Amino acid sequence: MLNIVVCVSGGGTNLQAIIDGVKEGSIRNTKIVGVISNNAGAYALTRAEDAGIPAYCVSPKNFENRERFNRAFLAQLEALAPDLIVLAGFLVILPEKMIEVYRNRIINIHPSLIPSFCGTGYYGLKVHEEALARGVKVTGATVHYVDEGTDTGRIIMQKAVEVLDGDTPQVLQRRVMEQAEWVILPKAIDEIASSWEERKE
Ligand code: GAR
Repeated sequence: MLNIVVCVSGGGTNLQAIIDGVKEGSIRNTKIVGVISNNAGAYALTRAEDAGIPAYCVSPKNFENRERFNRAFLAQLEALAPDLIVLAGFLVILPEKMIEVYRNRIINIHPSLIPSFCGTGYYGLKVHEEALARGVKVTGATVHYVDEGTDTGRIIMQKAVEVLDGDTPQVLQRRVMEQAEWVILPKAIDEIASSWEERKE
């Protein structure tokens, strides 16, 4: 069994896709052992609670400085002992120590076809605003491993999505979520879980 922790900051639709995938069996050999948010108001926390998954908030607002927040965040992760950490709309710069400790065991979903529209400052709706401003006809989403850079880690899976005439950033964001993010993030976890099982055999 692959034990995963999902880190979130907002609505948690990707988290929901993972919860549903585990429940319906499209994500096999996987258990969500916890959800951590940096934001107490994140609806993702409610989604976790509704699914009976332990949910925690570790917010920088509750700590004197970044160093103390980082330590508390790492301690929460350590307590959950995940095999894999999934960043699903987690908008926090990760402590370097976390990347060291969990090297090749952290994955992220990004709402574009990396290397387009990624890197510092590219998150959420901003990514889709830039894609529309550039006039691309195809965009999509990417699941990748997390390293020290921003969106620079090894690519695991990508899926293309058409941009249509008249798209607004919101409409495009929704299409990318429905057609790409909610498909490839669960699929990537399922694949990692199956190679995890094979490694143990
Ligand atoms: C998703 O579109 C995700 O790809 C994006 O934030 C959104 C979170 O939505 N992540 C990034 O932009 C990371 N650079 P959700 O909370 O509904 O899953």
